[in-house]
Amino acid sequence: MAQDHAALPAKPTEITPTPVRAGIDLQINGERYRHTGDPAMPLLWYLRDVLQLDGTKYGGEHGDGGADLVLVNGKATSAINTPMSKLAGKQVITVEGLADARGNGNLHPLQQAFIDEDAIGCGYCTPGWLIASMELLNRNKDPSDNDIDGLPNLCRCGCQTRVRQAIKRAAAAMKQGTKA
Ligand code: FES
Repeated sequence: MAQDHAALPAKPTEITPTPVRAGIDLQINGERYRHTGDPAMPLLWYLRDVLQLDGTKYGGEHGDGGADLVLVNGKATSAINTPMSKLAGKQVITVEGLADARGNGNLHPLQQAFIDEDAIGCGYCTPGWLIASMELLNRNKDPSDNDIDGLPNLCRCGCQTRVRQAIKRAAAAMKQGTKA
């Protein structure tokens, strides 16, 4: 049955404020960003799709194999398993930020060592190795083979032996304060 709208009691239009989604402020590679999108967005998609920082790779929905590692406040962290909501006030370093972290425009000794030891096959796993080994060298300046083998990273190209040599080369160079 059609309603007689003219008979409805006059009622002021309710004004419901549009919910304001608080921004999530964080630093990535030394730059300040504010994320105002979905707080559940994984950091990996923010890096790759929003910022076009595609060095960090997708290694599966659980982050197995370490291709999606970044440093969050110095700790190697899976970017696919970290929602933006967990990153307020945090400092993120991606593989793109490793060289800049030295402040001199040169490659990080780890990057140089991976090149010098030819520890890169297809390269898909390499950013994750660099991030994981950066964290390792920050807490252990002289890692053993077992320490390196304990990293969560996988390489389908079979570069593990050369990766191990590269990390040791970088460790030696960093102890001397020189480039690898
Ligand atoms: S270099 Fe290809 S997966 Fe490691």
